[in-house]
Amino acid sequence: MTPTAPLKIIAIGGSVRPDNYTMRALRVVVDQLERTEGVEVQLVDPVTIEWPAPGLDGGGPELLAFQEAVRAADGVILASPEYHGSISSVLKRIIENLGYPNGLAGKPVAMLGVAAGVIGAIQTLGQLRGIISHVGGLPLPGAVSVPKVQEVFDEAGNCTDEGMEKFIRGLADGLVRYLRDPIPSRASSS
Ligand SMILES: Cc1cc2nc3c(=O)[nH]c(=O)nc-3n(C[C@H](O)[C@H](O)[C@H](O)COP(=O)(O)O)c2cc1C
Repeated sequence: MTPTAPLKIIAIGGSVRPDNYTMRALRVVVDQLERTEGVEVQLVDPVTIEWPAPGLDGGGPELLAFQEAVRAADGVILASPEYHGSISSVLKRIIENLGYPNGLAGKPVAMLGVAAGVIGAIQTLGQLRGIISHVGGLPLPGAVSVPKVQEVFDEAGNCTDEGMEKFIRGLADGLVRYLRDPIPSRASSS
């Protein structure tokens, strides 16, 4: 029997603030993926890559390697803080650096948003869904919003709220489930 190739997932952070909460939440998702058999995950911290403004040349070998990693990925996770009721300009710039036509086209994309406010990153996730759809990606249902994010992560990056941690880990499980069985088989009624 031919061994099944591992699922390749790329997880992309959308904040460059030192010790940002987006990466703290995204690391929980990545940890869950690392515990999942048959999955290879790559975490992208946006501070490690130069992202040229749209239409400008630039970007080094790291950018080319990133674009290639997205091309090769079976699934993508995009994570953004809510900034002024929208996705971060950092994440928008990352998406713009995936070209036109865009490298997210045809890719299943799981979405994670974090916000200081009590209503969470609802607007961010709605807008991100629209952008992903527009470029031909497949935004998955079950996006995760982390409200009051400063209250659920400690300085060391640990999630201190058990329920929220479970919810965040669920994003990883949902993506893997989708990649393995995009149209869930139905039990026969006969
Ligand atoms: C420029 C800016 C705009 C923000 N706008 C919002 C907002 O509209 N709603 C909200 O709940 N929090 C807002 N916040 C708070 C952030 O969502 C919160 O601090 C989050 O932790 C930032 O994510 P980061 O740590 O990953 O950068 C804003 C923060 C910044 C820096």
